[in-house]
Amino acid sequence: MQRTKVKDLLQGAAVDQEVLLKGWVRTKRGNKFVNFIAVNDGSTINNLQVVADAEKFSEETLKDVTTGAAIAVTGILVASQGKGQAFEIQASSIEVLGKADPETYPLQKKAHSLEFLREIAHLRLRTNTFGAVFRIRNTMAFAVHKFFNEKGFVYMHTPIITASDAEGAGEMFQVTTLDIANPPRTENGHINFEEDFFGRATNLTVSGQMEGEVAAMAFSDIYTFGPTFRAENSNTTRHLAEFWMIEPEMAFYDLKMNADLAEEFIKYVIRYALENNREDIEFLEQRLAEEDKNKPQNERQEMTLTEKLEFVVNNDFERVTYTEAIDILMNSNHYKKKKFQYEVKWGVDLQSEHERYLVEKHFKKPVIVTDYPKDIKSFYMRLNDDGKTVAAMDILAPGIGEIVGGSQREERMDILVERMKAVGINPDDMWWFLDTRRFGGCPHAGFGLGFERMVQFVTGMGNIRDVIPFPRTPQNAEF
Ligand code: 4AD
Ligand code: MG
Repeated sequence: MQRTKVKDLLQGAAVDQEVLLKGWVRTKRGNKFVNFIAVNDGSTINNLQVVADAEKFSEETLKDVTTGAAIAVTGILVASQGKGQAFEIQASSIEVLGKADPETYPLQKKAHSLEFLREIAHLRLRTNTFGAVFRIRNTMAFAVHKFFNEKGFVYMHTPIITASDAEGAGEMFQVTTLDIANPPRTENGHINFEEDFFGRATNLTVSGQMEGEVAAMAFSDIYTFGPTFRAENSNTTRHLAEFWMIEPEMAFYDLKMNADLAEEFIKYVIRYALENNREDIEFLEQRLAEEDKNKPQNERQEMTLTEKLEFVVNNDFERVTYTEAIDILMNSNHYKKKKFQYEVKWGVDLQSEHERYLVEKHFKKPVIVTDYPKDIKSFYMRLNDDGKTVAAMDILAPGIGEIVGGSQREERMDILVERMKAVGINPDDMWWFLDTRRFGGCPHAGFGLGFERMVQFVTGMGNIRDVIPFPRTPQNAEF
């Protein structure tokens, strides 16, 4: 017989027929006459209840049916008498496929802290919370491809190993096959990367943008969606050393078109999750509401998770220039009462406390900040006519901070080369990138969206380590 997934069974596939269910035991309870076994197979947040009559199943058979065990059940799918579920299975046979010793299986019935679950990341996927988070993550990844596919964008696979630093920030993980205890040396004592695997020094990519720009000059509209790596020593709830980024790049786009696309994209992905993951989002919303009960009144959420997501989908993002944002901050009571830890003045980068003030206190909605001072942004951003600012944009989201970074690109060869030199990049090393300006260059723009930050926003999870299956952070690469 073919196995049917819990999700389909709960929708009433094959009522009053014999079905085969396979999954993992969440709980078992019962009395002298009957046992109730809740089974989950990951297809939905909901369990399917298996009813096992004591007269049909000996204690001996049921003793290995414990929390965590993998079982196969055959029986008749019937409308349920009990409350809480529409259907249940009247079991005729139960086979234990894999035991889970109750003495040692870490996921028992009680609620576990997220911190504890992070230490057993290989098992936490079997909990309701992480089941919901990763089903939503899956839906959102699908929505990313759907959105760009519907718009005729070409999905480009950009390399993971590169020889360039796309952000020019020097936060790269080296890739080498040299013997690090005893590397080959040049005459003047430097490590001789000519003897390395690629005949040169290489690293894990921090961004697919450079190759994305190259591709946009052929296909007009492209996007990447892949892992990127940053060796920044940031131990925060928003930073990973390995994260997934979506980077669209569009020929003939200016900054405004870029911002419009980013806003439309974010709303599309959220809406898609709302439409396709109702139950999972509702579960996480409940979870957050419980969490809120332990917080002081003024730290509680004003909106439920669903309300927050619907609000973002249904309202325009705010748009301000960096200069306007600095003015707002400097005129705020928060600033006057010296409540910001970091300095606020034209020219300094916005710290997360500033971003959060703008988004959560002042505008109370996502904000697109544009036209930053050139000295705090990357070399490839297009210089504005004022000579001081660049056509950059960051999108800031409530509770998250920066979720998107992007810009119109500097397409003018002379200015770009000058900017590279100013930040210490040798233009000769980037000859292929500069060829996009040399041959058929045109105005273009793009952005990068941090996928995990977006998943955090939709799931309401406070720590980025809880929205990627196996997080990589400083001092942590278990699993
Ligand atoms: O602002 P970033 O550094 O921009 C770029 O990499 C550009 N090349 C993008 C482009 O224009 N094509 O990173 C983009 C986004 C950030 O806004 C943030 O959401 C996410 O990537 N991000 C991180 N997410 C998790 N952990 C980290 N360490 C991150 N660093 C950036
Ligand atoms: Mg950025």
